[in-house]
Amino acid sequence: MTTFHLRDAETYRAEYARLADALGVPPVAPAPGEVEFLSEVATPGRFPFGMMPAPDLFFAGAVASLLRPRLTIEIGTASGFSASVLAKVIVLRWQESGELPTGPIVHTIDLKTEDQRDEVRPVGYAIERVTPELGAQIGVHPLRDSSYVSQLVRGEELTLAFVDGNHQHPWPLHDVMQLQTLMKSGWILLHDINLPAISGQAYAPRFGAKYVFDFWPEERVGAGNIGAIKLPDNRNSLGDLVARLRELPSEVSPNGWKKRWREIDALVKKLP
Ligand SMILES: C[S@@+](CC[C@H](N)C(=O)[O-])C[C@H]1O[C@@H](n2cnc3c(N)ncnc32)[C@H](O)[C@@H]1O
Repeated sequence: MTTFHLRDAETYRAEYARLADALGVPPVAPAPGEVEFLSEVATPGRFPFGMMPAPDLFFAGAVASLLRPRLTIEIGTASGFSASVLAKVIVLRWQESGELPTGPIVHTIDLKTEDQRDEVRPVGYAIERVTPELGAQIGVHPLRDSSYVSQLVRGEELTLAFVDGNHQHPWPLHDVMQLQTLMKSGWILLHDINLPAISGQAYAPRFGAKYVFDFWPEERVGAGNIGAIKLPDNRNSLGDLVARLRELPSEVSPNGWKKRWREIDALVKKLP
């Protein structure tokens, strides 16, 4: 596994080509304005709501910039901060090639209608504060989970996704298994892959994302508490992954985990 720590604009620029190599894409330069935008939005305290830490944000931004997806799906909207940042980076790539998207390029899904972490506001409320110009490019879908993504994707356009919803095992596995059905190839960003180590005594550790990342059978790129997993050409290995992760203790309620595992099993049966 290759690892990165993109902590600021300087390390972002210095590590960008190595990240391109790890992702298997050409070592192009960042888009005009990209590093400046990311540096601004990664500044601690820049916004009055919970923000992904700078190294996580720089990594997610660099992956989106290098992969240039036509469409991205995020599981877990909350304020909409990460959806905004991903959309902006992707739009800067479009602008570089003289194009402008007319519809959504990022769809973000949340089980809830409200984000209650900093202020009680509808999920996605931060989009108009971070990227007010991208309202039409970001589709916000409250009251949904990842089983809804098939309604949002047409053809083979989905090559990047971001999983940052419920981190309790087996939810992240469920989300990844749902998303992979719609992705012929590409990468999935997983947030909070090191959550048990950083959550300390503050709240119960959640191992869901960590399990998927640690046991992922294909290429992985790690960056502390965030990582990217590459979808395997041969999806049979995902059946083995599911079998291994089933042995680990589920973290949701018994009713919840039985339903999740039933859905995961149905997705395994559909593997080619
Ligand atoms: C950590 S927050 C997301 C933060 C956001 N990605 C950001 O960085 O700005 C997790 C969000 O996932 C939502 N969520 C929880 N379980 C979910 C599920 N099963 N499917 C979709 N969203 C879920 C929560 O309501 C919460 O808003």
